[in-house]
Amino acid sequence: MSVDLSTRYLGLSLKNPLVASASPLTGDVASLRRLERSGVAAAVLPSLFEEQIEHEELEIFRLHEFQTESYAESLDFFPDLEGYNTGPDSYLTLIREAKRAVDIPIIGSLNGSTAGGWTHYAHLIEEAGADALELNIYFVPVDPAMTGQEVEEQYLTLIREVRRAVSIPLAVKIGPFFSSLPHMAHRMIEAGADGLVLFNRYLEPDIDLETLDVVPNLVLSRPQEVRLPLRWIAILRDQVEASLAATSGIHETSEVIKVLLAGADVAMMASALLQRGPKHVSETLEQLRHWLTENEYESVSQLKGSVSRENCAEPSAYERSNYMKALISYTPRYT
Ligand SMILES: Cc1cc2nc3c(=O)[nH]c(=O)nc-3n(C[C@H](O)[C@H](O)[C@H](O)COP(=O)(O)O)c2cc1C
Repeated sequence: MSVDLSTRYLGLSLKNPLVASASPLTGDVASLRRLERSGVAAAVLPSLFEEQIEHEELEIFRLHEFQTESYAESLDFFPDLEGYNTGPDSYLTLIREAKRAVDIPIIGSLNGSTAGGWTHYAHLIEEAGADALELNIYFVPVDPAMTGQEVEEQYLTLIREVRRAVSIPLAVKIGPFFSSLPHMAHRMIEAGADGLVLFNRYLEPDIDLETLDVVPNLVLSRPQEVRLPLRWIAILRDQVEASLAATSGIHETSEVIKVLLAGADVAMMASALLQRGPKHVSETLEQLRHWLTENEYESVSQLKGSVSRENCAEPSAYERSNYMKALISYTPRYT
């Protein structure tokens, strides 16, 4: 019996549920070709950043209008993104080239936190041929005067603005830090999101003990991290009609199966592909096929959501009671 791995995500028909998440691996055409050959069903390009678009516009403004260095200070801290993505215009070229080079859907990505002129790139990304757009909202509130409601409004205003700019499907990638994620999920969908990508991994800065500098420190994910998206996808699956993508900690076939059981439409991978290369996709797909056959599933659709909060034997396991049970049943190694 051959199992049907196909799934739907953001209204796109995908041949299987494995999507290459935004990372340097999806940022050039040769690598996208390798990912396609190894079997990924779609790829999210690395993000184009709000700061990057505004920086470029500021630079053009400075050079052409004023010919002065008065904006230099705001430009000083700008990181050199060469090698990651090559700037707004080349980003659009990458989309066009990727669309010519591969047949899998190409999802563009914008990364920012506030509404503003930079979001017109959403439209340019659509014009360049992207099949969908992922909007990664990465915001760290530091102002004690800003309320949670204001933070949420900032997200929603940005989503509405990007929604108005495009007619292709729109996914919103967020972090897990909301007081009521189910409520916020509903509001983001009302604002125009066709799908949610759960979750962004916030890169926690570190302190260098030699220099006492606060330094960014990118650590690739570990498989245990999948538990956070797993729980929330299981809870949201029965509450929203929108597409749900799982990202963070998906390394092995077992994590792919788990997020699908919880109710994800697709499983996204970045760290695992960076560590093991595109061939990891074909191995994972083979193992997924094997597991489904062994467990008498005919398709990924049949698997999807079958252990969501409402469909599992004990819905409270996804809630607080699980916490109490886990603490009580822990056996200390030293007493
Ligand atoms: C080197 C690197 C670059 C990344 N760049 C982006 C990016 O440009 N935009 C984005 O939305 N996520 C980006 N991510 C986040 C990944 O897409 C993914 O959501 C995250 O790493 C969690 O998935 P994982 O556990 O499979 O790595 C990046 C991750 C890594 C490791």
